[in-house]
Amino acid sequence: MAGIYSPEQEREIAYFLEKLHKSPMKYNYFGMGAKRWFHYAETAKSQTASKGIHILERILITQKVATIFDSLSAYGYRNFNIIDIGVGDGSPAYPVFRYLQYSKPRAKLRYNAIDISPDMLKSASRNIKETFKVYGEHYLFDIESGDFSHIARKLRQPSYGNLFMFLGSTFGNMLDMHQTLVNIRKSMAQDDYFLLGVELFNQKEEGKMLRDYYMAREAYDLVFTVLEHFGARRTDGEYRVSFNERASQVEAYFTPDKAIKLEIAGGDIALKKKEKIMLVWSVKFTPKMLVTLLSDAGYRIEMLATSYENNYALILVQPRV
Ligand SMILES: C[S@@+](CC[C@H](N)C(=O)[O-])C[C@H]1O[C@@H](n2cnc3c(N)ncnc32)[C@H](O)[C@@H]1O
Repeated sequence: MAGIYSPEQEREIAYFLEKLHKSPMKYNYFGMGAKRWFHYAETAKSQTASKGIHILERILITQKVATIFDSLSAYGYRNFNIIDIGVGDGSPAYPVFRYLQYSKPRAKLRYNAIDISPDMLKSASRNIKETFKVYGEHYLFDIESGDFSHIARKLRQPSYGNLFMFLGSTFGNMLDMHQTLVNIRKSMAQDDYFLLGVELFNQKEEGKMLRDYYMAREAYDLVFTVLEHFGARRTDGEYRVSFNERASQVEAYFTPDKAIKLEIAGGDIALKKKEKIMLVWSVKFTPKMLVTLLSDAGYRIEMLATSYENNYALILVQPRV
C-alpha cells in the first residue's frame, strides 16, 4: 500500500510494536482505516451490539447543550468557535450546531477540526459545512505530541466564545491521559470551555461490554488496520478481548500463531510467535477517576452529567485559575 504515514510516524509505529508490543490506536484512522471507521460508525447506529456510546453521548449533549452555552454566554459572547478534537465524521458536533442555529440564529459559528488523520479532517469538515451554515478551518495535529496553542491562538477573536470538544470516548484510548489533558489545557484561554465525553465503568454491563468488542467485526477490522498496512493478516493469529481491572480498561490482543515480518520505516520488525500485541486499550472511568485526572491536570469542573444507566459521562471544564 502507498505510504500513508510520514517517516516519523512509521518510526513511532515501529517503536511501539517492537518495544511496547502495542499497535498505536491513533494510526488506525488513516487511509483504509478511515473507511473502516465510517463503516463501524454507520453499523453502530443500526446494531444493538455497539450502538451504545455514540447514541448515549448524543442524547447527553442534546440534553445539556443549553446549559453549556449559558456558561459561555455569561461572558457576553455572541459568536462561537467550536474546536473539535479527534473529529471522526464530525457527527458528534451536530447536536451542538443544531442548537446554535435554532436558538442563536444571529450568532456567527466556526467549526475548527483538529485531528491526526487527514482523511478524518476532510470528512468531518465537509459533513459539517454541508449540513450547517458554518465557517472554519481544519488542522492536522497529534494532540498527544504537545499543546496546540499556536492553532488556538489563531482562532481567538474578541466576540467569540471558545468551546473545545473531545468526544466519542477517544480520551480513554490516549497513551498518557494526564499529558493529553495538560496539552489541551495549555491550548486554552482562561474563559474557554472544554467538553469531554467518556465511557463509565458499569460492573453490571462488563460481560456485555466484552461481547460487544468481540462481536463487532467492524471494530476488529478497524483496530487491525496498522498491522495489516505493514503486511500482517488476521489469519496469522488470534484475537482476544479481556477487562483489565487494575487499569479499568478493556484490552484486545492479537497473538500471532507464527513469526511475522513487517516492513516499517525502511527496516524489518519481527513479531514473534505467541507474543501478544495490544490492539485496543479503552479506559472505562469512575466519576472519582475523572475528577482526580481533571483536577491533577489543572481544571475545575463546571458540570458532570451521566447517562440514565450510568455508563457514559459528559464533563464541562475550564482551566483552574
Ligand atoms: C474513535 S474516533 C471518534 C470520532 C468522533 N469524536 C466521534 O465521536 O465519532 C477517534 C478520532 O480521534 C482521532 N485521533 C485519535 N488519536 C488522536 C491524536 N492523538 N491526535 C489527534 N487526533 C486523534 C482519530 O483520527 C479519529 O478521528
